[in-house]
Amino acid sequence: MKNSPFLLLVFGICLAHAADESIIQLKQGQGMQIVRNNCATCHSLDYIGMNSPFLDHKGWEGEVNKMINVYHAPIDKNDVAAIVDYLARYYGVEVPAAEGSGTR
Ligand code: HEC
Repeated sequence: MKNSPFLLLVFGICLAHAADESIIQLKQGQGMQIVRNNCATCHSLDYIGMNSPFLDHKGWEGEVNKMINVYHAPIDKNDVAAIVDYLARYYGVEVPAAEGSGTR
């Protein structure tokens, strides 16, 4: 049994990770439900938060189309606009332009 502390540690990390993923919440807003329904089937919703620092409206549009065209995500074409709008609004880089920049 000399390995067990290590195995317990690994198991603990897996559990913590799984728990993390299950509590990922999207920001409340129009389109949130559509995103939740379409984007959590293949991977965790934290992919959205992880990418939010770099993607603007156009970037998200490309990302959603990539999910559909490259990874064959079964997303209804009619839902794409709502998904992209939601992602750009709540997880996009379009933050109000450099307000107070230079003040640190
Ligand atoms: C059919 C399965 C599937 C669906 C549905 C899906 N994705 Fe993905 N997604 C993938 C795969 C496969 C990858 C790349 C492999 C990986 O890193 O796990 C990925 C990666 C990503 C990434 C990381 C950046 C990248 O391009 O690799 C983001 C962001 C992302 N998906 C967002 C979304 C959003 C937003 C939705 C809902 C519109 C969505 N995904 C729905 C399969 C899917």
